[in-house]
Amino acid sequence: LSLGQDLPRLLCAVPGPRSVALVDRLSHCESPAITPHRPRPGLAGAALEDPPAWSQASGCNVVDVDGNVFVDLSAGFGVASVGHAHPAVVEAGQRQLARQPHAMGDVFFEPQRVELLEKLCALSGLDRVILGSSGADAVEAALKTARVATGRDPVLAFHGSYHGLSYGALAVTGFRRDFFMGRFAGQSGSHVRFAPFGGPVPDLEGFGAVLVEPIQGRGGVRVPPEGWLLELQQRAHDAGALLILDEIFTGCGRVGSWFAFQAEGLEPDLVCAGKGMSGGFPISAAIGRAHAMDAWGPSSGEAPHTQTFLGNPVGCAMALATLGILESEKLPERAAVEGAWWARELARLPGVAEVRGRGLMLGLDLGRPMAGARASAALLERGWIVLPCGEQSEALSLVPPLNISRELLGAAVQVLQEVLA
Ligand SMILES: Cc1ncc(COP(=O)(O)O)c(C=O)c1O
Repeated sequence: LSLGQDLPRLLCAVPGPRSVALVDRLSHCESPAITPHRPRPGLAGAALEDPPAWSQASGCNVVDVDGNVFVDLSAGFGVASVGHAHPAVVEAGQRQLARQPHAMGDVFFEPQRVELLEKLCALSGLDRVILGSSGADAVEAALKTARVATGRDPVLAFHGSYHGLSYGALAVTGFRRDFFMGRFAGQSGSHVRFAPFGGPVPDLEGFGAVLVEPIQGRGGVRVPPEGWLLELQQRAHDAGALLILDEIFTGCGRVGSWFAFQAEGLEPDLVCAGKGMSGGFPISAAIGRAHAMDAWGPSSGEAPHTQTFLGNPVGCAMALATLGILESEKLPERAAVEGAWWARELARLPGVAEVRGRGLMLGLDLGRPMAGARASAALLERGWIVLPCGEQSEALSLVPPLNISRELLGAAVQVLQEVLA
């Protein structure tokens, strides 16, 4: 791979024989709940095709085990904000891995953690951080902080929201709720109430937290009406509830500012970050104001919130390198400019009901249930990785690395034209 800005190059039909052979093995040893695949003798499967197995990646390109080169317009779920395997991120991770791969959660720490926490506070303008290992961790740390700070159980979340699938995060996830939550409803979630995203705000008396994505990601790149988030914040604060913004998708430059809240003049109490923060290491952060975070009180030696891998040094080093690249290469600003250009081009495509989003977080609404899923499959056959989104897979999620070239963005418009015609 050269610069990671190559067009697709397919050596065989996708999935190739090596991928299929790996799925044969995977289908026997992984829970059927995880990777979708075709049926196999003695094993159920529900997908029309097997997925290609990834082998290596660079920048915007992913190569599968059959040698096919793809362009990844999903940035690996939004993680590869500076591109896959950015040399500076790889080097930072390798250096830290050789020196010290682990630092024992809440008991000991090392310098990279201090630098990362300082950096996150400086970028967000907030005061204190709890690190985690997944987006769901960050959401749960923020929810726990709000419970500690307010002493109140009820939480308001929104239809179509996605906050992760561990129990606490699942309880506040509205996206495909019957599918994700149905079987677990008896085990969690009685403290959560849901309201329409962008709709009338219910009475928040007695609520401890309002949790919202500034732009719903998996829910279909849905942008609320102008001023709605500010009103929500006002209503939350009037009622003594904390505003938690889940910026796991929108944060770290994706929507054209470091965080979406900064562009909208919001003053959240807690902000969650993850995905694009580290370039691939599982690390996330709940960042909060002192008045909320300090309500925890000091750890007595038995930390009331921690994890074995909290503040993992390799993750901290990779996150610092990633945030450094985002900053030095002005990638949030670039996302704003390139995203505005791309949105205009995409709006001219046939079969597009709406282009939504901001910066390089765009959603192409195709106006019909499953149209996004069908387009996604047709794009993969042509070497383009694009995930569907929306409650009914009616849209495509366009969230490439923030340093993707204008040429690749243009080529994506051309292939979409072909697929959507
Ligand atoms: C807005 C948002 N919050 C939380 C999560 C959950 O993150 P994770 O899958 O790392 O737990 C996601 C993942 O897609 C997300 O988009």
